[in-house]
Amino acid sequence: MRILVSGGAGYIGSHTTLQLIAAGHDAVIVDDFSRSKHSVVPRLEALAGRPIEVHEVDTTVRPATDGLLADGAFEAVVHFAGLKAVGESVEQPLAYYANNLGSTLSLLEAMRRHDVRTIVFSSSATVYGENAPVPMKEDFPTSATNPYGWTKVMQEQIFRDAAVADPSLRVALLRYFNPVGAHASGTIGEDPSGIPNNLMPLIAQVAVGRRDKVLIYGDDYPTPDGTGRRDYLHVEDLAAGHVAALAHLATTDTSVSTWNLGTGRPTSVREMVDAFSRACGHAVPFEVAPRRPGDIAESYADPSRAESELGWRAERTVDEMCADTWRWQSQNPDGYPED
Ligand SMILES: NC(=O)c1ccc[n+]([C@@H]2O[C@H](COP(=O)([O-])OP(=O)(O)OC[C@H]3O[C@@H](n4cnc5c(N)ncnc54)[C@H](O)[C@@H]3O)[C@@H](O)[C@H]2O)c1
Repeated sequence: MRILVSGGAGYIGSHTTLQLIAAGHDAVIVDDFSRSKHSVVPRLEALAGRPIEVHEVDTTVRPATDGLLADGAFEAVVHFAGLKAVGESVEQPLAYYANNLGSTLSLLEAMRRHDVRTIVFSSSATVYGENAPVPMKEDFPTSATNPYGWTKVMQEQIFRDAAVADPSLRVALLRYFNPVGAHASGTIGEDPSGIPNNLMPLIAQVAVGRRDKVLIYGDDYPTPDGTGRRDYLHVEDLAAGHVAALAHLATTDTSVSTWNLGTGRPTSVREMVDAFSRACGHAVPFEVAPRRPGDIAESYADPSRAESELGWRAERTVDEMCADTWRWQSQNPDGYPED
């Protein structure tokens, strides 16, 4: 298939673009490079062993997105483009609603006009809200605790409503748990701007000496070691989930399918710091700080629907996640070269 990958220069999009190409698809990237660097592109081309078509377009801009779909002869869209920092979304809610909802609306509108029926969307475990029991299942009610989370809840609803109006749409809502790790080459990986919001890039930046210590927010949660537990999955397993979802959408009669992508196994913050210390060969310094408002004790998936319907399972271990993150971070201490 010829596939448009929105946000394909970003962390998950870059790894998925490579796997789509490896699976025989023609993946075309559209990205505005607001949260990624141009220098990822030659690295992707080196890994893919072929040139990759890239369009520098803000997908909220409707005429530009429409033009891409009009000319592209695409059969599917994999939609990663969006802003994802929870704290920033609290400070700039309008920017988050405008960008995240705007991208989805303009892509769906362009797909309708140019007869593209298939889309895979990056949703998140954040849609399970604050009080969901674990493990989390796809049929749980959705809610959110911050504007970023609400953009995901709302985008899922937009897809469902669009599919009611046009049942020929084929939509995959992929609810990611906590993607970490990097390509085994160490040449592409996660490169957040500013202070990382997520644990793994923070641990990696401390390990490489860019920051002093990891702050662990709360060690008095009702978990075995008192620190929060999350469902970390390797970004390469996550990328494979997109390839599997696209294959499934080509054969299903269901308009909107929702799948959790996680391992189903929780890892605590302390366990992750210890695993990373083993991977990098020295102790990663940390300090315990008070709990952060809005953080929950535990979040992990019931991934059984993805396994039974997609034949997909997250295979890689926490030690592999740490080893691959360390390879990327130690080879690229400051992330991608500046544009
Ligand atoms: N990383 C996670 O922990 C996580 C978890 C759950 C869901 N997600 C979702 O997965 C998707 C990808 O996340 P990521 O971690 O790769 O983030 P990322 O920031 O690395 O990638 C997002 C990409 O989208 C691009 N982008 C943003 N707005 C755009 C626009 N208007 N037009 C064109 N390009 C635009 C950015 O430049 C960036 O390259 C996001 O939608 C995110 O919300 C991520």
